[in-house]
Amino acid sequence: MIQPFQIASGPRVRFGAGEAAFAGEEAAALGMKRPMLLTDPGLSAADVLTPIIGGFEKAAPGYQLFEQAETNPSDESILRAREFYESNDCDGMVAVGGGSSIDTAKAMGILLTNGGKLPDYYGADKPANRVPPFITVPTTAGTGSEVTRASIITDVERQSKASIHSDTLYADVAIVDPSLLATLPKRFAAGALMDALTHAIESIGSLRSTPWTEALSMQAVALIGRHARAFVDNPADPGAAGPIALAATLAGASFTNTGLGIVHGLTHPVFNFFGGHHGTTNGVLLAAVMKFNLPAMRETYARMAPLLAGAGATTAEAAIEGVRAIALDIGIPATLPGIGVKEEYLDRMAIEAAKSATVQTNPLPADEKDMKKIYLELMG
Ligand SMILES: [Fe+2]
Repeated sequence: MIQPFQIASGPRVRFGAGEAAFAGEEAAALGMKRPMLLTDPGLSAADVLTPIIGGFEKAAPGYQLFEQAETNPSDESILRAREFYESNDCDGMVAVGGGSSIDTAKAMGILLTNGGKLPDYYGADKPANRVPPFITVPTTAGTGSEVTRASIITDVERQSKASIHSDTLYADVAIVDPSLLATLPKRFAAGALMDALTHAIESIGSLRSTPWTEALSMQAVALIGRHARAFVDNPADPGAAGPIALAATLAGASFTNTGLGIVHGLTHPVFNFFGGHHGTTNGVLLAAVMKFNLPAMRETYARMAPLLAGAGATTAEAAIEGVRAIALDIGIPATLPGIGVKEEYLDRMAIEAAKSATVQTNPLPADEKDMKKIYLELMG
């Protein structure tokens, strides 16, 4: 019997190569006269913005360009973005980028319509009012932030990541344009893709998984299994970029309804102590966590096996090996020291990982000892 469930479907999604040129039209349709176009300095340099700016010049010429969104945005950088929005009389947000610009816009938007300070909204369902009119345009196929109800930010004073989860953060429109991935450097393409694969697999395993979200995630797993290697080899290949961009958005739409698992719980302490790329760290951890979760996931992983390891694969173990092979083939380091982790920090990292909210939705309970064991297994 299917248990009762609810699904929030988030923004209207506009998908397709070349669709980002319509961001200006969409902004005008939402009533924006002076949209704040948020992005990061790297994107202007890589010419990713050119077709988007062209669209704004035609349809919403009052746009205000803010190019200072930070990677892993700090609370301070979000306050600077807010200051820009207010001093330029902006009336809507168009975030172009990876998780950085989009999460900056969400957090800034909450302050604009709710007042107060960011820590007032850490956790779930705290803001009362929706963010201003809001369009997301992802330029990496990874975070899924374009369709999620979460903003992940770095709290400088507490020296840790903090998150805000609320339906008030959903964008009005997400424009997913695979042609924007063409200039993605290979190592970011690989890391982002592993983030998307982790979202899909952790959402399927979540204790809050539903048949609806599993449909989204299984399709994401299938697309990534089939196209991961070709995409990282050449992110400008439309035959691979389209499926991978779609997979990342599907996985985002899935996990925003289910929560994640302990791959993310283990990844955040790595970032807090050593920095590094979120998706790459997930990629190092994913297969080891699947092995840990195997007793609860045998039947589901077996269904994933042909998607990840080829038509003849039928066992849960083959699915895990398939994930490991994809990660290695696209250049994800095999061990934690490969991304700079040092053994003397593992105890503290394990304590932090065990406190992660992701433990509550992981298919199996996991305590400090379990976390340390998983870290140790990946020390090479
Ligand atoms: Fe993630």
